[in-house]
Amino acid sequence: MNLKGKTVLIGVSGSIAAYKIAGLVSMLKKQEANVLVAMTENAKNFINPITFETLTNNKCLIETFDRNFEFKTEHISVAKQADLVVIAPATANVIGKIANGIADDMLTTTTMACRCKKLIAPAMNTDMYENPIVQDNIDKLKHFGYEIIEPNCGRLACGDVGKGKMAEPEEILEYISKEIMYEKDLVGKKVLVTAGPTIEKIDDVRFLSNHSTR
Ligand SMILES: Cc1cc2nc3c(=O)[nH]c(=O)nc-3n(C[C@H](O)[C@H](O)[C@H](O)COP(=O)(O)O)c2cc1C
Repeated sequence: MNLKGKTVLIGVSGSIAAYKIAGLVSMLKKQEANVLVAMTENAKNFINPITFETLTNNKCLIETFDRNFEFKTEHISVAKQADLVVIAPATANVIGKIANGIADDMLTTTTMACRCKKLIAPAMNTDMYENPIVQDNIDKLKHFGYEIIEPNCGRLACGDVGKGKMAEPEEILEYISKEIMYEKDLVGKKVLVTAGPTIEKIDDVRFLSNHSTR
């Protein structure tokens, strides 16, 4: 698998699962992807931006109004570069903000500006995950074309056992490669499934057919 020429924007929010994203970023770099990381302020409590900057060779995007760069409207230029956005881990808070059109930090503002496909990998305590408000926000994201990478069941960092454990980096990588590696060469094509043999005319005399299978 090679992701050369592809830019993946990873959004990291304030969950204990944030440390796992260093592994994901490292795997993406091995596939030669260009990786940009946008973090929330709260995510910095869980992983240091220097880790991502060292792994990606790119500056971590944290502050919307950061003036310490060559001038361009950064959230827009980053959004235009991205072939795919992956928000992992996605907190209940970030899911709620994106689902409701709130763009009050670099991660949510850039996500709002991205036209490309977006994958969301929720990570949270089971009670938070099963909260109907969170479920409603997830449904809303699905409705708007965001793809949810379902969290796993297991022992959570808080000691509870249940659903809410972020999908493992290898699983997230699988989603990413499915999304940007393979050409969507069946998009727009109509497929006819028949229940018996079919005959396709080659010329006035010959035809191609197949045995009927049951
Ligand atoms: C130790 C610790 C672990 C946390 N883990 C999660 C988590 O996995 N998922 C989540 O939704 N919130 C978690 N939170 C709460 C969020 O950090 C909090 O809601 C924060 O406001 C999220 O900010 P952000 O979405 O801007 O990153 C955790 C908080 C602490 C103190």
